[in-house]
Formats: sequence, C-alpha cells, structure tokens
Amino acid sequence: MKTAVLNGSPKGSLSVTLQYIRYIEKYFKNHHFDYMDISSKISAMEKKEDLFNDVLRRIDASDLIIWSVPLYVCLVPSQYKRFIELILERNAQDRFRGKAAAVVTSSIHFYDHTAHNYMRGICDDMGMVFAGAFSPDMYDLVKETERKRLLNFASIMFGVVESGRSFSRASNTINYAVPLYIPGRESPPLDVRGKKILILADRPYGESNLGKMIERMAKNYGGAAKVRYLSDVDIKGGCLGCCECGFDYKCVYTGNDGFIDFYNNEIKPSDIIVYAGEIRDRYLSADWKRMFDRAFFNTHTPTLTGKQIGFLVSGPLRQLHNLREILSSYAEWQAAGLVDFVTDEDTSPEVDGNIDTLAARLVEFADREYLPPPTFRALGGMKVFRDDVWGRLRFVFQADHKYYEENGLYTFPQDDAKTIERNKKMMELTSHPELRENIRKMIKREMVKPHLEVVERK
Ligand SMILES: Cc1cc2nc3c(=O)[nH]c(=O)nc-3n(C[C@H](O)[C@H](O)[C@H](O)COP(=O)(O)O)c2cc1C
Repeated sequence: MKTAVLNGSPKGSLSVTLQYIRYIEKYFKNHHFDYMDISSKISAMEKKEDLFNDVLRRIDASDLIIWSVPLYVCLVPSQYKRFIELILERNAQDRFRGKAAAVVTSSIHFYDHTAHNYMRGICDDMGMVFAGAFSPDMYDLVKETERKRLLNFASIMFGVVESGRSFSRASNTINYAVPLYIPGRESPPLDVRGKKILILADRPYGESNLGKMIERMAKNYGGAAKVRYLSDVDIKGGCLGCCECGFDYKCVYTGNDGFIDFYNNEIKPSDIIVYAGEIRDRYLSADWKRMFDRAFFNTHTPTLTGKQIGFLVSGPLRQLHNLREILSSYAEWQAAGLVDFVTDEDTSPEVDGNIDTLAARLVEFADREYLPPPTFRALGGMKVFRDDVWGRLRFVFQADHKYYEENGLYTFPQDDAKTIERNKKMMELTSHPELRENIRKMIKREMVKPHLEVVERK
C-alpha cells in the first residue's frame, strides 16, 4: 500500500508527531511511505505552484493519506490550515476525493478533540474515506503499552483501507451562504466608561457583511474603539514550534517582526476585545490562526485575564459548533469573559440589534468586572496545564512555572489540609457498618446544608 504522509509540523523532520508514523513504517515493511513536509514549506508552496502540484501528484499515487500534525491552539498549525485553504482555493479537493485518510496528532491532550473534529470535518468536505484517528500524548511513543496501541491502530487503519469498507461521515456539508447584511439606523453611541476597546480583524472587509458589522460595532463606541487589522501588522511567519519562549517568553521572532510589540502594546492593555473574522473551511482564516499560534510566545500563561471578549463572525457559525467551542475555550482558559458571538446568519435588523446588544454588554460586563464561573473548558484545560507545567514541562516552561506559583494556579487538592483532615475523619467513621448506613441516609441533606445556611442567613 502506498501511504502519503503530510507532515504538519513546522519543525519538519524534527517533528515529534512524525516519529509515530516512522515507528509504524518500521513494522509494516510491505507498505511504502512517502513523506512530505507541508507546514515548513508552506510559504514556498504558496509562491511556487510546482511544489504544490508535486504534492498533488504524490497524493494521486497514494492509497492512503496520513495527516500527521501537531496540535496547535486547539487546532492544527496555521501553516497546515493554510495548506487546507490552498487545496480548496486551487480547486484541488477532487484529487483527495475517494482516498482513504487517517489523522495522527501528538499533543498534551489540551483540546486535541477539537483539532480532530476539525480534521475529520475537512476529510468529510473533501470526500475522503476516513480510516481512523490517533491522538497520543507527545511522549507516548517511549512507553511500551502505547507503542502496542499505536501498532494496533495502524493494523486497523490499513485493514480499513484494504477492505475498502465504507466509514460513516462525522458531519454534514456546510452551507456557507449567509444573507446580505444591510445595516439600519445607527443607535446613539454608548458611554464606554473609560474602557479601552479594540476591534481586531484579520484584514479590512470593506463593504462585505463583516466590514459593515465591524463598522456598526465601532460606531456603537462613537470613536472610542480602535479598529486594527492583522494584515497591517508586520508578521513574518507562523509559530515555528521551537518552544524557545518557554524560559522567559522570548520568542525567536523578537526584534524580527512587529507581532510581539503589537500583542504587548495593543492587545494586552485593552479592556474589551472584539475579534472579527470570516469563516473559512470550518475555522476562521489561516491568518487568524497564525495570530493565535504566535500568541504562544506567552506559552501557557494567560494574558487576557479579566478582559471582556466578543466575536463578530461572518459565516455559518451555527453549523460549526466545533469552531464555537474552540473560540469559547480560548477565551475561557485565558480567564477572560466571553460575552457573546454575533453572526450574520440572521436578518439585517436582527444583526443590528445583536451587535448593539453585544457592544453594550461588553461595556457593562467590563464596568461590573463580571466574569462568569469557569466551566469545564477552563477548569479541565487549566488542570492539564497545571500538572504538566508543575511536572514534566517545568524545565522548558520556567516562565509559566513562575507565573503559576505567583498567581495561585497550583491548585493541587493534595495541599488542602482541611479537606484531608475531614476525609480522614469521615473515612474512619464510615468504616463502621452501622455508622456507614446512618451516614448513607444523610448524604442528600448534608450536601445542601451549607447552601441552606447561606440562603437562610440572608
Ligand atoms: C504554538 C503551540 C501551540 C500548541 N498548542 C497545543 C494545544 O492546543 N494542545 C496541546 O495539547 N498541545 C499543544 N502544543 C504542544 C504540541 O502539540 C506538542 O508538543 C506536539 O507533540 C508537537 O509536535 P511536533 O513535534 O510534531 O510539532 C502546542 C505547541 C506549540 C508550539
């Protein structure tokens, strides 16, 4: 069997993810593997169509395509996202249609599921036959049991391809059409109560729906909001995945382009940030993705704590729950308040109303310093980071470690003396059969006791 491996790591052959595929290759000697660096070659591929066409020719010659790609900010790296855009922009998706596809990532399991949902959706969009997905932790390959799991996965994957069996789609085709947005009369400008407001889009959108949405949003703030475009910022490239920033937030691009200054001087000081973008291929643009990846120079340290965030999205967000989830999770793990999303899926008067409401609520939430309680998105995500930064990643991510220590993010229950003491006492008591039966009957009442006390005290 001929397998094309599309390497999505900007680190090329030094990719951790790629070693999982190379390990499979060692065991399946009768299969031929054709490795192609995609992310590290994306700029060249954009400029030279030959390089892109060479990839297509090698895809034509393959029976199975493995998307081998690291997790970057809940998705794939911006360079890989751009490759997917190129396939669709250059109408090359037919070259992938009917081919078997598998997705192999490596990560620390922080939102690996959203990246997999995305890649599976892209495979569905291209009419590929899904042959499986594998999402190991980045160091699983050094564990015997995990290597066995990998080889098992590989056998199953090759089996699917050889059998020619069908595999169910995970998602429906997206209908990208949205109604034309024609804004109505403007509302009077709001009192922004001294808040610093930034409306950030990947590029100017002119007279398109998003351009008009941005304009209406800005007018709500009567000139008090800055509108900025990533296309005006000198950004030399995507994140290279080197992790050199881990010690002290010093990125390899420092002094070489304008992104870090932009992030530090324009994004960080804002109280309210409205992110604006158009949906492309189940996500926003690759340029937006590049911004999220490059912001990784802050590593696992939240930089938007306490800020209020809104999203203006042009496109079918309601059909793309995965995208909504990714953007919500980004805001939440950053400990920012996500006020809402407004899209152009509604009628123009509704969009007008929704933008005006979002504009007002952003200011109100900021003024009240209101943040909703974190959900699993922040709590689960931060526990993954907390454990890894405290443990195996500490030496590389020393800046995170310092921040987590100083800001009380090491919330290990092992340190909770009161709970430890209470558990000890209650475990002893419930070890007596008679007491255990009595206490069993008390659980429901005892569980709500502290709440009742608070409510009745008021
Ligand atoms: C910019 C950047 C963003 C990352 N984002 C995530 C993430 O969202 N979730 C996760 O679990 N790991 C994330 N990681 C960790 C990588 O996925 C992990 O180290 C992976 O094994 C790297 O694979 P590679 O060597 O093939 O590039 C990120 C790493 C970088 C450099």
